[in-house]
Amino acid sequence: MRSLMLIALLVGSSLVADSSFWGEKRGVAPVNNEAYSVECGSCHFAYQPGLLPERSWVKLMQNLENHFDTDASLEPEDKKKILDYLVKNSAEKFTQYKRSRKINKSISRGETPIAISQTPYFIKEHREIRRDLITQKEVNSISNCTACHTTAHKGIYGERDINIPNYGRWDDD
Ligand code: HEC
Ligand code: HEC
Repeated sequence: MRSLMLIALLVGSSLVADSSFWGEKRGVAPVNNEAYSVECGSCHFAYQPGLLPERSWVKLMQNLENHFDTDASLEPEDKKKILDYLVKNSAEKFTQYKRSRKINKSISRGETPIAISQTPYFIKEHREIRRDLITQKEVNSISNCTACHTTAHKGIYGERDINIPNYGRWDDD
């Protein structure tokens, strides 16, 4: 009986220690896959899998030969590994992460966007940014997350950690 109680206590406390069990996380889960970081982080920031739903990643990975006007094709083995990682970590698998949930919820069932920047949630969050701040050479494209989000690599996109080149910190008020 005593040992059973001890086990119950241990199980209980390990759940408390894992904040993801109780607490909501604000951003998206950071990238933790070597092949993905290397292969999908060579031309641009390695976007976290939690930024798009599974069907988007599947569609994107089906057409790497013609990837946003470039060829990003991979060896079949790497492709399989990376697709597997993306699917297992896509937005709908991370309901405790607020941004994954919001992005996923914003996409209609019939839509399969292959760009985070084409999702309704993303568009809404970025609509107030002046065009010239995006087109300036230090940013160049709204897809260049790390130009403005100083903690993007950690999966943290909050207002406090935004610094737009030649503009500075973002204040929504
Ligand atoms: C050869 C260079 C190259 C490689 C390798 C590459 N990409 Fe891209 N990717 C691009 C370009 C160019 C764009 C368009 C960016 C822009 O519009 O500024 C893009 C855009 C994207 C976008 C849309 C960004 C947005 O606006 O939301 C996603 C998602 C993406 N890539 C995922 C991947 C994944 C996953 C891999 C690995 C399988 C990969 N990319 C490998 C060149 C590359
Ligand atoms: C030109 C600068 C710029 C670029 C590039 C940019 N963002 Fe943003 N982002 C902002 C600003 C400004 C906001 C609005 C913050 C606010 O009002 O709370 C924002 C908001 C967000 C939010 C909502 C954060 C929150 O806590 O409300 C997310 C998520 C986000 N961006 C992700 C991305 C991703 C992913 C990329 C790349 C695909 C990207 N952003 C590219 C400037 C940028």
